[in-house]
Amino acid sequence: MECNPINFENIYNSFKIHYHQINLINNALKKGKAMKPFNVCIVGGGSTYTLGFLKSFVRLKEEFPLKKLVLFDIDKDRQEPIGKYGEILFKERFPELDFSYTLDIKEAYEGMDFVFMQMRAGGLEMRAKDEHIPLSMGMIGQETCGPGGMAYGLRSCVDMIKAVHDIRTYAPDAWILNYSNPAAIVAEALRREFPDDKRILNICDQPENVVRSCSRLLGCKWEDLDPVYFGLNHYGWFTHMYDIHTGEDLLPKIREMIAEHGFLPQDAEQRDQSWLDTYGMVQTIMSDFPDYLPNTYDQYYLYPEYKASHLNPDFTRADEVMAGREKRVFTECAEVIKEEKLGDRFHAISDAHAEMMIKVAEAIAYNRNDRHILIVENKGAIANIQDDAMVEVVCELGINGPRPMRIGNIPQFYLGLLVNQVSCEKLIVDAYFEKSYQKALEAFTLNRLVNDAKKARKVLDALIEVNKGMWPELS
Ligand code: G6P
Ligand code: MN
Repeated sequence: MECNPINFENIYNSFKIHYHQINLINNALKKGKAMKPFNVCIVGGGSTYTLGFLKSFVRLKEEFPLKKLVLFDIDKDRQEPIGKYGEILFKERFPELDFSYTLDIKEAYEGMDFVFMQMRAGGLEMRAKDEHIPLSMGMIGQETCGPGGMAYGLRSCVDMIKAVHDIRTYAPDAWILNYSNPAAIVAEALRREFPDDKRILNICDQPENVVRSCSRLLGCKWEDLDPVYFGLNHYGWFTHMYDIHTGEDLLPKIREMIAEHGFLPQDAEQRDQSWLDTYGMVQTIMSDFPDYLPNTYDQYYLYPEYKASHLNPDFTRADEVMAGREKRVFTECAEVIKEEKLGDRFHAISDAHAEMMIKVAEAIAYNRNDRHILIVENKGAIANIQDDAMVEVVCELGINGPRPMRIGNIPQFYLGLLVNQVSCEKLIVDAYFEKSYQKALEAFTLNRLVNDAKKARKVLDALIEVNKGMWPELS
């Protein structure tokens, strides 16, 4: 057999080219790191999630350096204690940061590079109504799924669309990272109102939370798992969970382990019972539908009657949050303000949610093309779902926004579920834009958590009553 002699010169030249490219990339990354520090605004500064962000901005200040951070809220009483807490924290650990909090939109948005949106239209009091009213009629309200989610959706359409217009007045080029709920409905509304705006990104932390849970189960790092995922926001499935080093699909192993040991959140020790119950339902879902690993929110669509009969209409998740997380956050603020120092409180649990959102901002800022599960316009990513649906899939994310990875056709069962919900979400957004009672009634009727036109009308009418002034007037 004749062999070509090894051409060392060629190998050397190609090595030189690669080496040159790697150097270019490295330099660009270094430049990126040395790039001017960022200006960030958090909309919903008075949220119970803000403390986690403030601490994470300190922890991650080398990799995501800030020049200016502004908290914005419309609720002075919530924002002020958190703002004062921030002043004390940053004086201790990040004195060079220009930090402030405000109720003024110009001060909030002008000159911003990133706006993190975590507003809760109507506050926790309205979340309680979204959950209680439907449940008192035997339907799950829920914060984002079911009639409660649609009620919240209509309020969020009003407030989010206004907020994004305000942001664009003062910061035309800022990246808007939206995780305000219900993210599916908000994403659809923003797609229609701002069709040419390429710097609005919709994202939810729950898929990553499920990946983190798998890492707990497998005893590996969550960053070592490479998921394939399809669905809508709060309604999706993992088809594969690859080991990033070996390429092995770990889903069969995860399936077996869940059947045997159940499923827990990564941070189970810090969770309320209702969250443990929610993760526990993954075992039930997988015993009925073993194909894929579900998002925890799928429980509401798959077992609406069972869930409704096991929830207390007088004490739902909203009440649990108000009695728990909200109290803890504002107590911590009061203590820090009184003592004028954070001390050990800084080292309390790191915040996975905030860290994920900051990593998303980094992926954009440094054009890293990291993989994240994001809510994007379908455009063929899930081949058998309509192009203009807002779907949730794995994307590469860089300076020009998300590039979704293709899933192909999904099986009939999942298609049926999702097409139903896409229609529901589109109709509720139609109801907002057209101020149409009829469209709202259609959306409520289609939703699997209602599924009956008489019930739909009854719960819709009750929700119209309590949302006066916060919804468009439907006729
Ligand atoms: C997850 C979801 C969020 C949701 C949150 C509710 O993180 O992705 O969209 O808002 O859970 O948590 P809570 O503790 O307020 O019930
Ligand atoms: Mn979410």
